[in-house]
Amino acid sequence: MKIKSIRHLFYIPLLILSFSCKTNTEIKQEVEPVVGLVTQKAMVVSAREEASKIGADIMKKGGNAFDAMVGTAMALAVTYPVAGNLGGGGFMVYRKANGETGALDYREKGPLAATKDMYLDDNGDFIPKKSQLGAMAVGVPGTVAGIFEVHKKFGTLPIEDILTPVVQLAKRGFVITKKQEKRFVHYNDLFYEANEDTIPILRGYKANDTLKNIKLAETLERIIKNGAAELYKGESGQKLVDFIQSKGGIITMADLAKYEAKWRKPVQFRYKNLNITSMSPPSSGGVCLAQIMKMIEPHDLSSYGHNTLKTIQVITEAERRAYADRSFYLGDPDFVKIPVDTLISESYLSDRMLDFSFDKATLSSDINCGIIPGYESDETTHYSIVDQFGNAISVTTTLNGAYGSKLYVPELGFFLNNEMDDFSAKPGVPNMFGLTGAEANAIVPEKRMLSSMTPTIVEKDGKFWMSVGTPGGSTIITSVLQTILNVSEFGMTMQDAVNAPRFHHQWLPDVVVFEPESFDNDLLDSLRKKGYQINEEDSKIIGKVDGILALPDGRLEGGADKRGDDTAIGF
Ligand code: GLY
Repeated sequence: MKIKSIRHLFYIPLLILSFSCKTNTEIKQEVEPVVGLVTQKAMVVSAREEASKIGADIMKKGGNAFDAMVGTAMALAVTYPVAGNLGGGGFMVYRKANGETGALDYREKGPLAATKDMYLDDNGDFIPKKSQLGAMAVGVPGTVAGIFEVHKKFGTLPIEDILTPVVQLAKRGFVITKKQEKRFVHYNDLFYEANEDTIPILRGYKANDTLKNIKLAETLERIIKNGAAELYKGESGQKLVDFIQSKGGIITMADLAKYEAKWRKPVQFRYKNLNITSMSPPSSGGVCLAQIMKMIEPHDLSSYGHNTLKTIQVITEAERRAYADRSFYLGDPDFVKIPVDTLISESYLSDRMLDFSFDKATLSSDINCGIIPGYESDETTHYSIVDQFGNAISVTTTLNGAYGSKLYVPELGFFLNNEMDDFSAKPGVPNMFGLTGAEANAIVPEKRMLSSMTPTIVEKDGKFWMSVGTPGGSTIITSVLQTILNVSEFGMTMQDAVNAPRFHHQWLPDVVVFEPESFDNDLLDSLRKKGYQINEEDSKIIGKVDGILALPDGRLEGGADKRGDDTAIGF
């Protein structure tokens, strides 16, 4: 599968980074990697083999899924800098062995000096580059606060035991893959533009070179010693702020000091015999997933068949209506009132589908957000972990675009996000994913920008059944949806479900996007005849899903998306 960057609409995984170049080295691990894996007790599925190994090794040493989350997150920052991060943010959804569920929000925030019109020129026109490239694009990062919050509440191993293998990995280096080399080349000009040729990634690395990141190893060593305060109040924080300001950014020590991760009540809903727990605002993921699944629930998709005309029509029309609501109602719940219960209620959603017909497409221009009386109004990475104690977690974390703002902090060894582009800089004007927004997602100091990240856990018959999620900007929600349906409606294995071809619709632009050369031409012609606009050219890939499925006999099956270098490891 070819992976190329396509801004606007789609996930753009791709190249790599960093530091000092040596020849390929052997990395000894305690747990052997297996792709397409079935294990007895525990598993990590992530975008990089080394990160999955570090998480699995932590659990093998007796740590739980939450300990493994901390190690996996930081190992991804080392080996998958396109999206793994210290300079971004994310969300975690969990289900403990006793059935307790919850969610953590460590999304980035708008800086204190942010203003509503900060990305508009004198004529009031949106300047996309300003919210996407360089220091003005950076939101206050949340990842380090997030992993320490997880560790404080649920961790069992000392932070030193969890992070020391990551420090060693950063010092020892990792072998870059072909896909990573390709991303390097692809983003070279933007790295140069954002950093003025000061970063190691610009030295030019090839597949099979080993990349070391000594500066990141040193940052992690200080974090082991001083905790999250190192980045939010300490030496590393000061270095970060000095660097951002030297590049024209507005983040201050006060921004860092005020940052805190927040425990949220996740969105929970039932779809047929499944109980689904997904991320609540400030992500739109859980609400939109619930809306789409409740709108399609009355249809017998399994009898329509996988990726058939009828199935695609029903899903597309539900997506159209959900994304229209997303655009109007969703934002940071600490700043805007969101009618979540109504938005995911059966009565509201059955009304939303009243005008659906198999005869022809609804036009997005004929769809607006639903009326709720009384209401006033790519890159990312995902990993799933299940431990030997029965705890399950689902984590999606992001820098927003590939390598975020492309701005790399040389003294600390990591990239900074461009999450400010996830705000609605001007009502109705699309961001890099083609998503439009309104007042609910306008820029406000300290507000969290709306996300599409959809870390999700599914229960069947009261037991853990699936942990799933993906990168992909606006396509995250629809990729998670299709993966759950691929198993629950169409009987696929977890691995087949994540590999299956996907399509995507998001209300505006009014186009259904299909992965190229994956769908039958007659099927696409039938959709065209019914009034659907089809785009196969611009998508390349949609999502890069990682998931874990509990098999009926209690074993775990990993699904590591073939679209990336993703790997499942466990025991
Ligand atoms: N930055 C992508 C998202 O949060 O949806």
